[in-house]
Amino acid sequence: MTKSTVCYNSLVNGRSNFFDLQDNQDMAPLADRHNRIATNLRVSVTDVCNLRCLYCMTEKMDFVERSEIMTFDEIVRLVGISVSLGVNKVRLTGGEPLVRKNLPELVENLFAIRGLTDVSLTTNGIGLASQAQKFYDVGLRRINISLDSLSEVKFAQITRRNLLGQVLDGLEEARQVGFDPIKINAVPMRGFTEDEVLDLVEFARNNGYEMRFIEFMPLDADNIWGQEMFIPNTELKDRIGQAFPLQGEEDGRRLHATAKDYWFRDGKGKIGFISSVTEPFCHDCNRVRLTADGKFRNCLFALEETDLLTPLRHGATDLHLADLMRQSVADKAEGHLINSQNYIKPKRNMSMIGG
Ligand code: GTP
Ligand code: 5AD
Ligand code: SF4
Repeated sequence: MTKSTVCYNSLVNGRSNFFDLQDNQDMAPLADRHNRIATNLRVSVTDVCNLRCLYCMTEKMDFVERSEIMTFDEIVRLVGISVSLGVNKVRLTGGEPLVRKNLPELVENLFAIRGLTDVSLTTNGIGLASQAQKFYDVGLRRINISLDSLSEVKFAQITRRNLLGQVLDGLEEARQVGFDPIKINAVPMRGFTEDEVLDLVEFARNNGYEMRFIEFMPLDADNIWGQEMFIPNTELKDRIGQAFPLQGEEDGRRLHATAKDYWFRDGKGKIGFISSVTEPFCHDCNRVRLTADGKFRNCLFALEETDLLTPLRHGATDLHLADLMRQSVADKAEGHLINSQNYIKPKRNMSMIGG
């Protein structure tokens, strides 16, 4: 791996500081003991959400104190350091990222980091209609939107909020503005949302969206995950394939990708299956995470986190923060243990870790 030579601008306390990690040290990459290099950082910008999806949150959540949430400047600084260690993709998540005011400003500042060319967003789409153009104007092109049902009643049952119209408006506006690709993420649950699947596929096909089905993972706050609710993606793929014939390689997952993609035989786009439970992709994982309160996680299922925000606020140097990131990645486990007796659920649920 070549030495990274990245410089980045950061606004700290309103002043413009210039950091240059280029000359003063060996910026070794984020390598673990299982021959993986982390280059993909998922940054949660808030743990707050305006929905309460059953597979993720519980109705009454305890959110992190506002003062403990990273400011945009703090995010830019930490992302900049990670880029100097080889990160080249950043995805903003939450909670619901759009509940943070002026998010396009953060996106613009991230694109200004030299070496970071891929910035993307995962959102539930609420509030997107009024901001889609702003995101596009600052360079964002890739958006993933969560949507589990097109029925107002069902949507309200899954999300415990009656806001389907806003999500559909957000999707439509993103399409009009020109985002490409627009992926729709759904987490079907047995006996609950499994009947939504074909409608979602048809909707996505007709509108040029890429539909993706995600296997339900044991990261929900309500502890409802279990065999009764879980649907393996092989079953969904068969059912969808009967209605809309598919083609693709059975081993066709791209390196480092979450989804295995298939194409509709009639040429109307593609569909993805994210089978984290039945076909884990840990062996080629290149992901790390930063929670909204500035904790660095080497895995979605990590039981330990490395606090970066406290040292940053106490004056830690970039070198020290880089060392903390590197140490965390070095300790990354080989993979998650969902399918084993030894599985231990992380203390924090999906919305607190970052979706
Ligand atoms: P692109 O490939 O860039 O479109 O993004 P993505 O699929 O990585 O992003 P997205 O936020 O849409 O993630 C989709 C889903 O994949 C998430 O909601 C998770 O359910 C799952 N996922 C994301 N990252 C991980 C991970 O590191 N491990 C596991 N097991 N699942 C993940
Ligand atoms: N299992 C799988 N995916 C989940 N998400 C949230 N909770 C879970 C879970 N328990 C996904 C949603 C959304 C993203 C933010 O996280 O589908 O796309
Ligand atoms: Fe990577 Fe952990 Fe997700 Fe596996 S579970 S893909 S190791 S983050």
